[in-house]
Amino acid sequence: MTETTNPDIVVTSALPYANGPIHIGHLVEYIQTDIYVRYLKLAGKNAVYCCAGDTHGTPIEVNARKEGVSPEELVARFLQEHQDDFAKYNIEFDSYYTTNSEENRKLSEGVFDALVKAGLVYEKEIEQLYSEKDERFLPDRFVKGTCPKCEAPDQYGDVCEKCGATYKPTDLIDPYSVISKDKPVLKKTQHFFFKLSDYSDWLRDWLTTNKRLQPEVRNQMLGWIEKGLEDWCISRDGPYFGFKIPGTEKYFYVWLDAPIGYISSLSNLLDKNLEKTKQVWADADVQHFIGKDITYFHLLFWPATLHGAGWKVPDNLVVHGFLTVDGEKMSKSRGTFLTAAEFADKIADTEFLRFYYAANLGHAMTDVDLNINDFTERVNKELVGNVANLVYRTLSFINKNYDSKLSGKAADDKAKALEEQVKEKEKNILAHYENYEFRKAVQELLHLADLGNQYFQAAEPWKNKETSQAVLTTCANLVKDLSILLSPIVPGFCEKVQQQLNLGEQTFADLGFTLENHELGTPEILWRPIEPLEFDAPEKESADLSPAILDLRVVKITNVELHPKADKLYILTLDDGSGEERTIVSSLVPYYKAEELQDKNIILVHNLEPAKLRGVLSQGMLLCAEKDDQCELLVVPDAQPGDHVVIEGFERGEKEISIDDFFKLNLTVRENKVYCEDARVLVNDTQVTSTQIANGKVD
Ligand code: MSP
Ligand code: ZN
Repeated sequence: MTETTNPDIVVTSALPYANGPIHIGHLVEYIQTDIYVRYLKLAGKNAVYCCAGDTHGTPIEVNARKEGVSPEELVARFLQEHQDDFAKYNIEFDSYYTTNSEENRKLSEGVFDALVKAGLVYEKEIEQLYSEKDERFLPDRFVKGTCPKCEAPDQYGDVCEKCGATYKPTDLIDPYSVISKDKPVLKKTQHFFFKLSDYSDWLRDWLTTNKRLQPEVRNQMLGWIEKGLEDWCISRDGPYFGFKIPGTEKYFYVWLDAPIGYISSLSNLLDKNLEKTKQVWADADVQHFIGKDITYFHLLFWPATLHGAGWKVPDNLVVHGFLTVDGEKMSKSRGTFLTAAEFADKIADTEFLRFYYAANLGHAMTDVDLNINDFTERVNKELVGNVANLVYRTLSFINKNYDSKLSGKAADDKAKALEEQVKEKEKNILAHYENYEFRKAVQELLHLADLGNQYFQAAEPWKNKETSQAVLTTCANLVKDLSILLSPIVPGFCEKVQQQLNLGEQTFADLGFTLENHELGTPEILWRPIEPLEFDAPEKESADLSPAILDLRVVKITNVELHPKADKLYILTLDDGSGEERTIVSSLVPYYKAEELQDKNIILVHNLEPAKLRGVLSQGMLLCAEKDDQCELLVVPDAQPGDHVVIEGFERGEKEISIDDFFKLNLTVRENKVYCEDARVLVNDTQVTSTQIANGKVD
């Protein structure tokens, strides 16, 4: 946006969870939305693209705990990483915000209040699965067990991947916690419910009167309404990362405050003024782009809560299908689950993917297939061989033969016919963009480039260079129009073409064969043919890296000496209960004085392969908790040298292990308790603890 005028069109993509990397599946949506918003802007519309990180929920809380960082830290890292990834693909947001903002808190509380006042919220006691060991209620995805329908083992709490049955986590046979394998119990808890059931008629009406919705989406929603809508539980128990519901010990369920994040992202563009934001939201054309997996949230819950709380409901929703690679779901084992960053490293220009997705996207909820052979072929044939070829042969011909100067355009019948055809196609292309039919836009665009190449070829300007400047001027005009029309899809390429044409920023208002007697810039080849893409299936993990490889033992430090050749290292002599002495080298000098270490009972990785450190053989490694630049030795004063330190549920390792294998294991301290992966680390049945560093890594 140039001025701070209020936007007329607010477009959003779903807010990606700030809990893992952006992958090539996500990119379908962000590229689709970005193309649409770029189209709107080039058409002179005052449109903005708003998005944000979805920061709340149980998985984020659990993952942060696992990593020994705060949820805020975890989320901040992914917010940055996601924006870097999007930038790599020229996906340009006007606002990229976070759902963990003060604006979002205020808006969420406001919506909740309004729903309460409208009598749309009630409290009810329910029974949920609770793990005593994890000290938490377990959401559906944190419980597994045997499917109640087909008895397949290890199925999630909401749906069976074997037979497709959906059920409640309490229906599972032999349920267990995904976090700790603990057997959960039923526990009563009081929650807030939104009366979605009251909204069936209103939703049915909204879905049928809104003619912009995709018919297949509308029908799916109407089908669900016919089956009967259940009231929606909008609160969660702690521990949870989210907003506390004022005056209670509960939190807003992430799916209540996440879509409100669309509004707070908009407020981020409007001086964070929530009054003004509400007005703009009401006046603007609000359009959400989402994937087919979250239609229930966006076409039932979201409009109902908005309407109930007195907000304008979205004007349109555009639902896309899922990405498949060579016809199958992305898969880690086939090597087709690629992050946005990994894929960017595989291709010469990320805009090839923008083009490929555009070429496969229509206004329908169908899946998009990334076919590896087809990808290479289309890039080479259509983008390089057709589009980039027309651009370069035209500009380099003018550069070589006419000193980069255009004359008047050609006025013969062929040229006039071409110009007419182009005009006609331009209208169609703009309409296809408007209707989210990018595949059709691409077809027409490629046809335009074809026409240009045919015209060039038929004119044979290389045979009569002196008289062909007008023909080339006509070609240059086609190149210009192509660069304008393609720019929602491949904006980086088009900007460079326009530089080579020696033109400033172009919009759809600049379409038309108007370039005459103009001097061009320097031509350059922008795209070259690519090699076939290769997807490597990952190598099998070399060692069996379960905690069962470890042999940890209690040892007593019997002597401490400074390493003669290093100022950070001590040489420690240990009693490991075997009667023989052991020596290890440890970099504890910055953290502990020698006398502080003397006679301490500590934990040793007993089966680590010996290594020489600055000339002294080290036979093992002691365990410390670490956080930032702090370090705390884990001590076990009540244990005896030689006592085994057990990782709950695992055997003890018998073979020697390398330091690399050791570092692949995830040892952490969380709330002062030590874990290996999710298993407790015990000495004589008591969990090993830290005193200073509550949360951090252990190594
Ligand atoms: N955080 C929620 C959305 C909240 S919106 C108020 C969420 N996040 S997500 O990261 O899982 O997905 C973000 C978007 O990417 C969703 O629209 C989802 O449909 C889309 N996709 C995720 N994986 C996808 C594919 N494999 N293929 C195509 N789109 C995919 O859901
Ligand atoms: Zn089943």
